[in-house]
Amino acid sequence: MRLKDKVAIITGAAMGVQGELMGIGGTTAWMFAKEGAKLVLTDMNAEKGEKTAAQIRKTGAEAVFVKHEVSSEDHWKKVVAVTVEKFVCLDIIVNAAGTTTGSTVERTTLEQWDTMMDIHAKGAFLGMKHCIPVMKKSGGGSIVILSSTDGMIGGGFSAPYAAAKGANRLLARAAAIQYAKDNIRVNSLHPGEIDTPLSRWAVDQVLDSGGDDPRLDWIPMGRLGTSQEVAQSIVFLASDESAYMTGAELVIDGGIIAK
Ligand SMILES: NC(=O)c1ccc[n+]([C@@H]2O[C@H](COP(=O)([O-])OP(=O)(O)OC[C@H]3O[C@@H](n4cnc5c(N)ncnc54)[C@H](O)[C@@H]3O)[C@@H](O)[C@H]2O)c1
Repeated sequence: MRLKDKVAIITGAAMGVQGELMGIGGTTAWMFAKEGAKLVLTDMNAEKGEKTAAQIRKTGAEAVFVKHEVSSEDHWKKVVAVTVEKFVCLDIIVNAAGTTTGSTVERTTLEQWDTMMDIHAKGAFLGMKHCIPVMKKSGGGSIVILSSTDGMIGGGFSAPYAAAKGANRLLARAAAIQYAKDNIRVNSLHPGEIDTPLSRWAVDQVLDSGGDDPRLDWIPMGRLGTSQEVAQSIVFLASDESAYMTGAELVIDGGIIAK
């Protein structure tokens, strides 16, 4: 019960349906529930989001789902309003909503650029803007922003994705300084190659069917990470176990960055 009675908003939490491959947000939702948190799960995929929340409720945990486009300020206002109405306070935000697009600078359309920036950079910014006032009233909190190893080293797969994830990283650091005295901690998490619905979809875009997974070659540990391995670190950053950590960048990548 490392998160007992903590109220948490998790975005991008729809891929948490039992029996299916889960994403990082979905797996985090299950782990948070097991650790005693009260959950507001959000995603633009309402069907799977509702299903995930219903399955979690069956275990006895408290979980509501709100349909949410993270780049919409009005949607964020609604998510915060539902949270306060249902649980009164707010202790944790996990920004796990995301998508990607494989693209060089020249091939990137303005629409693709805006989409990457809107979901990752604007989404995390709006979340903080509207949640921090409630966190202040709650006595503090922990914000975890899913960046990526691409947000540190760039990576060649997608210029707009790397740029947006780099924005996540420095947004977290700036906010960490601005809200340290309010007892609000902000940390970024940098997964490498994790086996999730999103990453399987992304690899399918570049692979001929039946080809070998190109990611395994550049991972020193020689395997993909699991969403459980990332979610465990999110529990750590969300909980009081990381009480003296803010503005930190936690890398979970099987050794990619070390190369
Ligand atoms: N899987 C990886 O290898 C990897 C590596 C580094 C970083 N990340 C980041 O971690 C986060 C979670 O990734 P994942 O692979 O677990 O994804 P996932 O498989 O859980 O899918 C992402 C979820 O985000 C939701 N979503 C997408 N756009 C949205 C929007 N505009 N508003 C609301 N919801 C939206 C989708 O519906 C989906 O449920 C993402 O930010 C991703 O960029 C993933």
